[in-house]
Amino acid sequence: MAHFPPAFLDEVVARSDIVDIIARHVELKKSGSNLMGLCPFHHEKSPSFSVSPDKQLYYCFGCGQGGGAFQFLMEHDGYSFPEAVEYLAEKAGLEVPQDSERSPVDEARQKHAYDMLGRASHAMSRALDDEQGAKARAYLEQRGMPADIIRDYGLGYTPFGYGFMNKVFGNDARTNAQLEAVGLLFKGDHGYGDRFRDRLMFTIRDRRGRVVGFGGRVLGEGEPKYLNSPETDWFHKSDLLYGYSEHRDSIRKARQLVVVEGYMDVLGMAAHGLRIGLAPLGTAIGEGQIREIFRLCDSPVFSFDGDRAGRQAAWRALERMMPLLKSELTPRFLYLPEGEDPDSLLKAEGADAFQHRLDEDSTPVLETWLKGLKLLAGQGADGRARMAKKADTMLATMTDGYLRQAWRQEVEHATGITLQQARRRMSANPDASPDQKPPELNAIEERFMASLIQRPERIGHLPDLADSFFIDNAFISPLYSRAFSMKAEAEDDNTDIARQLAQEFPDSQTMISRWVNQATVQNIEFKSLLLDMEANDIRRRIKRGLSLAESIPAQTRLREIKKEQRILTEQLHETGA
Ligand code: UTP
Ligand code: MN
Repeated sequence: MAHFPPAFLDEVVARSDIVDIIARHVELKKSGSNLMGLCPFHHEKSPSFSVSPDKQLYYCFGCGQGGGAFQFLMEHDGYSFPEAVEYLAEKAGLEVPQDSERSPVDEARQKHAYDMLGRASHAMSRALDDEQGAKARAYLEQRGMPADIIRDYGLGYTPFGYGFMNKVFGNDARTNAQLEAVGLLFKGDHGYGDRFRDRLMFTIRDRRGRVVGFGGRVLGEGEPKYLNSPETDWFHKSDLLYGYSEHRDSIRKARQLVVVEGYMDVLGMAAHGLRIGLAPLGTAIGEGQIREIFRLCDSPVFSFDGDRAGRQAAWRALERMMPLLKSELTPRFLYLPEGEDPDSLLKAEGADAFQHRLDEDSTPVLETWLKGLKLLAGQGADGRARMAKKADTMLATMTDGYLRQAWRQEVEHATGITLQQARRRMSANPDASPDQKPPELNAIEERFMASLIQRPERIGHLPDLADSFFIDNAFISPLYSRAFSMKAEAEDDNTDIARQLAQEFPDSQTMISRWVNQATVQNIEFKSLLLDMEANDIRRRIKRGLSLAESIPAQTRLREIKKEQRILTEQLHETGA
């Protein structure tokens, strides 16, 4: 990750408005000091997505996504961190400082590569339109591909023989080296040559819509049927999904997504008005791609050919998916009749029949899993034992503890065998997650942190002993002490501690956003929380073992706290709050 000076990042955030960025995708309505709308990260009917213009943070109470402007561009629009910074800096008219990791040379090289790839795509489109492209045009027509799809998705043609790229870009050593780097030329014994010749071309874009590579289909017979760009600095097959940038918005809107196998399936669906298809690039779908799919839609349908290879591919996808599953996600699996793909079915049956298959013939992931297990394990008592064993190892990859329990029960019911591994792992580590998630806070800690972040001036009025709160929570502790020290450094009561903390602790942005955006902590509740925190702190110390001399005042203080709490509760009732 590039290193930007913190002061520069502050400046970028200060000169940007998160409301502008989010309002491009979400309709926001005023609600108190915040804005509310339908969450763009998950599907919902009533708004639980809130944006705080004061703090420049967003948070969804439905799905827990939250953060600042950079985060939104990264999570929603698919920017990398440096790209998000550059984008906002440019909009704000700020010059991006260079550092050693991102030299101006590198940057120019990046930009040049994207330019080249985009120009190559245009040249291929033009070649499809002129006389050399007649054969490819005829092929597309025979396959029933409408003109608007050909144009919108950047279909093209690369002519027979060598020299097409050099005609477009020139033929000097530097240009050739650059064309090789982006995967358009290969270097052989006799110099450079065009990688794609006499092929129908599919333009492949990254999540931001930049051309990064190509797929080329033979016209007629030949091997390979599809030739793709090689892995380059810009083209990473396992990170990309064909159709992503073209379909992201329509998928969100339709709340429907279909994962298909090929380019032609994505386009065939689009030609029938279903702009909701995505395809991996000829490789088995991986965890990263599935993660992106779940970000766009919580109920995607994964479609597969109904033959043996298709079932195997489905099983592989299911295995990759298991660590990512949560109860809010409801993926389904659809097996198509043998030998058919979405493109051929749409042609044969039309869009309504295909939609019907998606809705009626697809099976939920759990059902798919149980059926697959049964099929793998075979009949009889030993089959059931194999099924239980396989299920056990697969369950161990699940990170959502509740879902794992529910699925375990299903398998136990199906086999009559008590699973061991999944249970053991459960108790050892109730919510093992590969990416270090912040621990759940208890309700008191949660509201207490919210009370401070919402009204930073409160930090200044905390008693000295509050300095020691949270000592048991490794994740919150540094945040809390930083807030403490910030308050001491701050010149006035309006120092925006939330904003500053979010910047210094990027991993904690989601949590900070949640605190900012939740219901305002009023003063009486704050006083009560402070007492709760103190009481918890005393109890923790007692648990660790206090000397007799320490123990008596501790117990006395606990009794006092209880009394103060009672008084506060009465006040609360009197004010009718
Ligand atoms: P298919 O062979 O099913 O092709 O490969 P298709 O999409 O149905 O294409 P048509 O309808 O025959 O024109 C599915 C996907 O597998 C990848 C491509 O991404 C293709 O879209 N593939 C296939 C390759 O990468 N290389 C190959 O040689 C074949
Ligand atoms: Mn096909």
